[in-house]
Amino acid sequence: MIHVIKKRKSVRTFSKQPFNEELITSINTIITEYSKSVGPFGNLCRFTLIPALVEGFKPGTYGFIKDPEAYIAGICKNDNEALVDFGYTFEKIILELTALNLGTCWLGGTFKRESFKSNLHITGSELIPAVTPIGFPAEHRRVFEKGMRKIAQSDRRKPWEVLFFDGGLLTPLSKQSAGELSIVFEMVRIGPSASNKQPWVLVLSEDRTLIHFFLNFMPGYTGNKMGFEMQRLDIGIAMAHLEIACDAIGISGTFKAISHRIRVHDENLKYITTYHLQDPID
Ligand SMILES: Cc1cc2nc3c(=O)[nH]c(=O)nc-3n(C[C@H](O)[C@H](O)[C@H](O)COP(=O)(O)O)c2cc1C
Repeated sequence: MIHVIKKRKSVRTFSKQPFNEELITSINTIITEYSKSVGPFGNLCRFTLIPALVEGFKPGTYGFIKDPEAYIAGICKNDNEALVDFGYTFEKIILELTALNLGTCWLGGTFKRESFKSNLHITGSELIPAVTPIGFPAEHRRVFEKGMRKIAQSDRRKPWEVLFFDGGLLTPLSKQSAGELSIVFEMVRIGPSASNKQPWVLVLSEDRTLIHFFLNFMPGYTGNKMGFEMQRLDIGIAMAHLEIACDAIGISGTFKAISHRIRVHDENLKYITTYHLQDPID
């Protein structure tokens, strides 16, 4: 799956190639499977495929998305841990779709929630954190899409030294000292995030058995002012990428928060969870 993480890029312009029955079945199998498996915090999320041309359905993507065949909408409880689980689960779905050569794009802001709600069963304590269009990517991106990638600096990622730390939050983690685990951190780094803000801070413990996840929360970011903390989704995405990359290099692990506090100097740096490596490398 590492090559799929590398291959995934947001697609906002689709070809008009329709889906055949077999593909629709494969997509439904994927989303049904992930609707049954809980995320690292134990929450279930639900996913639904909505054909773009369903009568009366107006996704309202403000011109950001062109000609998808369908959308996948996701639902979860409106609480902070469920949002992390949603990010984790939805990214796994996105990667499975990428492996089928389908184009996707996380949408947390630029769609009309009300139109999606009327096509879904959703209770008062739930919300739709994000949706994705799906379809085969068009051969070329529109000029508009290229422009918005440039504004969001979508092809750039923050350097290692501001994202990953060694032993605590004071010393940056170098690729050399991460050793075999460097691919794991790199797969987190290249992940998608809301407005490409990359609010991830990871700390590798001195004994190389734990990886702590922090959210570098931006209270002023508009994505966090829509009735839920959108950047929690970004952490779930990072957790999915980390677990997939560990798996690819033969390391298993589990997510479990630790009880002792890690000293943090910034109130917007929020501890989320820890990945416990079960077969640590020397
Ligand atoms: C939680 C989340 C919400 C996002 N919301 C939107 C959105 O509302 N509209 C949009 O066009 N792109 C959205 N994106 C896509 C990001 O802008 C994109 O992932 C980022 O710029 C990196 O580009 P890449 O996905 O091509 O690697 C969102 C991404 C994430 C992870």
